[in-house]
Amino acid sequence: MSTLTLIYAALFYAASAILVVGVVLRIVRYARIPVPLKIPTSPAPMTRGGVFWRMLREVSLFESLYRANKWIWLFGWMFHVALAVVLVRHVRYFTEPVWALVALVQPFGVYAGFAMLVGLAGLWARRFLVERIRYISTISDHLMLALMAAIGATGLAMKYLSHTDVVAAKAFMLGLMAFELQPLPADPLLLAHLALVAALMAVFPASKLLHAPGVFFSPTRNQVDDARPPVAAWTGE
Ligand code: HEM
Repeated sequence: MSTLTLIYAALFYAASAILVVGVVLRIVRYARIPVPLKIPTSPAPMTRGGVFWRMLREVSLFESLYRANKWIWLFGWMFHVALAVVLVRHVRYFTEPVWALVALVQPFGVYAGFAMLVGLAGLWARRFLVERIRYISTISDHLMLALMAAIGATGLAMKYLSHTDVVAAKAFMLGLMAFELQPLPADPLLLAHLALVAALMAVFPASKLLHAPGVFFSPTRNQVDDARPPVAAWTGE
């Protein structure tokens, strides 16, 4: 087995361990934080079923962002939906046989790759062009955007500029999961794509990308608005 394959295998095992353990520890921490006050953003649902629908609309349509800012919503939503399609398309590298839904998504995945970059570009431009946002932007905000843009760009470059051996790339990933290492093709673009992905996995638990699991723990979104019972409950009507 080549040194390169061994290095990348070690890299992915380490990155996966950091991602899983890191995210689980974070979620445990979020779940244990006391929430002594009722602070749902109104108008808020008064039942648990209502909270479920509110949360579903929030994570699928980014409802509160839509109300707050149409431009950020447009680019943010575009980026996230495109990322989801790209990730579903990527499932084919980890499963054999490939699932029907994943096969169905393949043709759209390519457009999604471009849409992902357009979304990222819009979100990034805002950090330079909007004075207020530029002021609060930190180096890590820029680095996370750069990291994801670089992953998208190397992915699209493999698709359009210099093809990689996708069959061998898939064999490498399946081999990793079965703990039976298979050789990794030494294409610079694939090596860059995978190294950047491993970096993203490793920084995820310490990054702002934690808003993905974090949104479910947001008291302004996940609370039932029942601080005061409805009038009927205390008048006995
Ligand atoms: C270990 C995980 C990953 C592997 C093995 C992998 C592998 C690949 C390969 C082989 C291609 C070229 C596809 C082709 O030529 O048809 C590709 C494309 C691409 N990758 Fe990845 N990738 C991984 C993770 C990611 C992640 C996490 C993202 C996004 C954050 C991403 C974004 C893209 C994009 C946008 C493309 C171009 C569009 C497409 O072909 O779907 N990749 N990836």
